[in-house]
This record gives sequence, C-alpha cells and structure tokens, in this order.
Amino acid sequence: MPNTHKEIAKLRAEITKHDQLYYKDALPSIDDQAYDRLKAQLAELEAAVPEFDFSASPTQSVGDDRLEAFVSYTHRVPMLSLDNTYSMEELLEFGKRLEKRFPDQTLNYLVEPKIDGVAVSLTYEQGQFVRAVSRGNGAEGDDITQNVRPIKGLPMTLYDAPEILEVRGEIYMRHEEFERINATRETEGQQLYANPRNLAAGTIKLLDPAEARARALDIVLYGVGACEPARYFSHQAEIHEKLKTWGFSVLEKIWLTDGIEQAWTSIEDLDTLRQGFTYPTDGAVVKLDDFRLQDEAGFTSKAPRWAIAYKFEAERAETLLKEISLQIGRTGAVTPVALLEPVQLAGTTVSRATLHNEDEIRRKDIRPGDTVLVQKAGEIIPQVLSVNLSKRPADSVPFDFGAHLESLGIIAERDPNEAVWRITRKDDPIRQQRALQHFASRTCMDIENLGTAIVEQLVARGLAHNPADLYTLRIEQLLELDKFAEKSANNLIAALEASKTRCLWQLIHGLGIPHVGKQSAKDLEAYFDSLDAIASASEEALVEVDGVGSIMAQSLHAWFADPDHTTLIDRFRKYGLNFQSARIEIGDSALVGKIFVLTGSLPTLTRSEATAMIEQVGGRSSSSVSKKTDFVIAGEASGSKYAKAEKLGIVILDEDEFKHLIES
Ligand code: IVH
Repeated sequence: MPNTHKEIAKLRAEITKHDQLYYKDALPSIDDQAYDRLKAQLAELEAAVPEFDFSASPTQSVGDDRLEAFVSYTHRVPMLSLDNTYSMEELLEFGKRLEKRFPDQTLNYLVEPKIDGVAVSLTYEQGQFVRAVSRGNGAEGDDITQNVRPIKGLPMTLYDAPEILEVRGEIYMRHEEFERINATRETEGQQLYANPRNLAAGTIKLLDPAEARARALDIVLYGVGACEPARYFSHQAEIHEKLKTWGFSVLEKIWLTDGIEQAWTSIEDLDTLRQGFTYPTDGAVVKLDDFRLQDEAGFTSKAPRWAIAYKFEAERAETLLKEISLQIGRTGAVTPVALLEPVQLAGTTVSRATLHNEDEIRRKDIRPGDTVLVQKAGEIIPQVLSVNLSKRPADSVPFDFGAHLESLGIIAERDPNEAVWRITRKDDPIRQQRALQHFASRTCMDIENLGTAIVEQLVARGLAHNPADLYTLRIEQLLELDKFAEKSANNLIAALEASKTRCLWQLIHGLGIPHVGKQSAKDLEAYFDSLDAIASASEEALVEVDGVGSIMAQSLHAWFADPDHTTLIDRFRKYGLNFQSARIEIGDSALVGKIFVLTGSLPTLTRSEATAMIEQVGGRSSSSVSKKTDFVIAGEASGSKYAKAEKLGIVILDEDEFKHLIES
C-alpha cells in the first residue's frame, strides 16, 4: 500500500504542475489526451485506497485559472467540469446508468460540439451586459470584462431577458488570426504560441486592454448558469433557440437524439462535419435534454451526472520528412524544425513540425527522408511521434546536428547544461540580425519601420551590429539602403528617437537576455526601479524578485557581467534611453507596500488603470481580501469581497476617495 500512496503523491504533483501550465500560464507542455490519461490513472489508484485523503486531489477539482492581478468574482451558479471519455463503451455505459435511474422514461439527449476554447460566464442584469468572468476554480473566477467587451458581435443589450442571467460559453481564436499573430511573432524572432486555445487563454488574461484588443477573439455560447426569475427554460434545446434570438453566436449544429445509441451516431456525424466549423471542436458533449431529469440525476462533487464529454482522439497521419531546417532565435538558440510533405491533419495542412532539440531527434532517431507519424492534438503545433522504420531508405544515416550546422556555415556550440545549440559568437551576422529584430519588436522598444529587410541590410553593410548602433544611424546612411527614400528614412530616425522614452521593462526585454521574457522584465522593473540597480544586483538579490528563479538570476547576472554588455549599456545611457521606472519616488510615499484589493466595477477607472496607480505609489494589488489587506477599493456590484472587508474592519474606499488618497 505505501507504494500506492507514493505513486498517488507523485501523480498528484505531476497533474498539479500541468494544471498550473494549462490554466494559469496558458502554456501546456502535454496534449489533452496525455493529461486525461494521467488523471484517469490517478483516479484508479485513489479508488483502491478509499481511506486516503481526497480533499487535496486534483481529481476532485476543476483546475483554477485565477491570477493574482485580477479581481475575482463569485459565480451565482458554479461552473462545473464534465466527466470525459475517449471510449464508445464508456459513453454507452453512461446512457445505461441513466436508463437504470429513469426506467420508465424516454431519454432524449442533446449532442453538442465540445469547443476547445476558454470557458467564460457573461452576466446580464436587466438585459444589460455587466460582466465577463473566467471559470476560475469553478466557484469564483477572474473578472475579464475589459478584454471580453470588445469581442465582435457580443450583444450588450438583450431584449425580453430575465432580470439576471449568466450565459455560459467559450472564447476561442480563429485559425487565421492565430496564424497572423504567430507570423508576426516569427518575424520578430519571438517564441511562437503552440495553439489557438493557449493564445486565447493568454489574451483574455492580458492586463493591458489595448494589447488584448489587437488580437481578435471570438465567442460561442451554449448554456445558462443563473437565471432569475427561473421560469425561462425547461429543456437544453430551448436554451440554444433563445440564445440565438438574443443575438449570441451559437453552435452551428446540435443533434436532438432519442436514446444513447442515436447519440453515438450523432457523434460520428459531428466528427465528419467539425472540420468545417469556425471554432475548434475537440469532442462532443452529450446532455440529457430535459431539465427536470437533469435535476433528478444531480451532480457528483465536480461534474453533472446528466452529461458527459466524449473526446476525439488526437489526429495522426504519416508523411515524408523532407528536411530538417534550423531556425535561429533572438538569443542565438538554434531550434530544429521538420519540413514535411504537406498532409491534411485536423482540418489544416501541416507542412512543419517542431523537433524541439538535438536530444529529441536522437531519442526518436529522426532522419531526413524518413516517413514519420505526425500528431496534432488539440491543435497544438504538430509533433513528430515516431518514425516508420519499414519505410526508411537504405542509404539513410543518423542526423548529425553539429555537422549540419557546419554545412550551413552556422557556428554554434552546445550549452553543456542545456539541450540547446546556440550561436555564441557575438559578431555572427545571423545572431546580430535576430537581436536587432527582437530589440525593435512591438513588445520591446517598438521601433516602427525597422523590418527584417532593413535589419538585414544594416548588418550586412556594417551600419549596425548591436542595438546601440541603431541610435547612431544618420539619414544619409539610410538613404543608401534599398527601397529607402527621404520619407522612410526620416520616419525611421523619428521612430528611433521616440523609442528612447519607452518603459524600462521594454528596454530590459529588448536586451534579449536568455530566459528573460516580457513578464520577467516587468517584474524586474517593479522590484528594482532602474536599470543600474538590476545591472549591479547580485544573484541572491535577483532571486528575491517574485517570478525570477535561480536560472534566470544566473543568466541576468552573467549577462550584465559581460564587458561588452557594460559598453552597450553605457552607450544607451549616452544616447539618452530611459533607464528609470515610471514610478514616482516611492520612498516618499506613505503607501509603499500597502496592499489594495479592487472589487466591482469603478465608475471611470478600468482595473488596469487603478492597478497602475496603486503600483505607481509603491502599493501592491491583490485579488483576495484577507487580514493583510490595507484598503479595499469598491465599485458597483462588489459582492463577497465587500462583505468580507466589512467583517474584517478594512478601510473601504470608493473611486473618488481612492484617487484622493493616491494624490495626497
Ligand atoms: S456544458 C455542467 N457544453 O468543456 C457542465 N461545456 O470539459 C457545463 N465545453 O467546463 C458544461 N463545449 O468549458 C458544455 N457544448 C458544451 C461545451 C462545454 C465546451 C467546455 C466547458 C466545460 C468543459 C468540460
């Protein structure tokens, strides 16, 4: 038995790690099927030791997407998860259980597509849209209204609606939009998003609404949570009708079936149609149509007994791997990519797949000319699963990463601590180009008019080798470049000038320090306030920053210790780039370190504006009220947090009082 306990603990830890990656970071490292398998294994082990404490197990919860920076909101009716299966037998068993429970009834099931998006609950009060909330932990989610409001086609007013209505559905991103954003990121040398779901999940949690608005999201609605008065619906199918009349985007097709066998036939039908849908569909949801029967069937601790999700297996296909191409990122890291004979997979044509790194290629012994099995799960960037050895050409040889680099004239080294090859020579033109592209990109110094073609020429002609050189460029030099006229040259000089006043975090991000992304740059700015303070910080001081781990601290310290980088920073200083945080001298503020909680919607300020004001005076914003909270800023519909603050005797301010406090 102790072994089972150990195994349970191990699986719980592993699943918790994947929950964090999926729900909070929107960066899953395994596909849904592999995750579901881990969860099924854990449930099986737990069932064998019923005396074990289940309360903390991930099998008992629905995950949690809540983030510290957001205000959370309690759903009037909880958002639950569904039991899921990949097997027809289990689906039929689900039907048999309900037939046993309701022996004298005809059981009608509604079969709906299961959307692979991000769950959302929209609240309408007196017919007006008031709030959008993420699923969170099922009971309480994050208020994401400001990022959901701009979604095209979302009705702001419902006519003839109940007084209070929670509408449930999924936010997703269309394939074209996903590819558009990734294409831009690729030219900017930024890490690509793995799939539309991750990008949608990341977008609804952006703190800057303008950044969120720049990415088009879509929404589809299929259900209702709270509804007051409750006389509105008696069947699930009616909900779809009504949602449509109210002007919501609804499911393109649903099947009202008679009995579980017919439900199965509809699922097969759905499987053939789903590729034509606008939203990604990864399965079917089968629900008892009659609400009276739903109520009688009830719930387990996390899912209804009257519904089940049937998930389609990830799609796989065999194709020829024509070539292994090597891509170079902003830090000079070399990533291998498989160039494939185009093949249809999950509704898209797949012609590339990631190969991760040298070790992965060696482990699977993947060679150019091989016929490989490619998988696209939940639209994650396709992966090469295995090689079909029976189709391997007789003259095939193992792929030699180092020799391949050499044949391309790329001088790179393998970092002994990582699986990554990197171009280490700073004077390497490809590396210089990537570093300049990254520095100029939108989430760094946002230098307009500095596209790939120009960067290539600047490096090739010796006009810019590093970002500091950009600030020495003169009009006459630019006029010599291809396709450059007076106007474009002036524009570029003006854009470079404008970039000198960018936020400190943009500069930190732009330096291209290995492991330091946008969020870490923001965390560093918030903690240290100036570039000089970061540059002179010890590794011990760096790990003190929330969000900075030991690998990143080491990388930062090594980067700033490099004399070439000291020169770079000195030159930036000379050219007048901003090295300071936008915060006021926080030492003077009485609000340094004070903890604020925002709740409800404020009359004029958005959440991010209020949060920025708090941070500017050295305060911190938190999402939950506790004894440690100093101030609660309450707007309209502030709900449970208001009550809790009152109970704990915490100072509660309205927007005017808050502004007054900050100004004073
Ligand atoms: S009904 C009480 N219907 O899948 C259960 N959910 O794996 C309410 N989902 O939490 C959910 N398409 O986020 C339902 N047609 C559909 C769905 C759907 C996608 C999501 C939803 C749910 C999750 C469960």
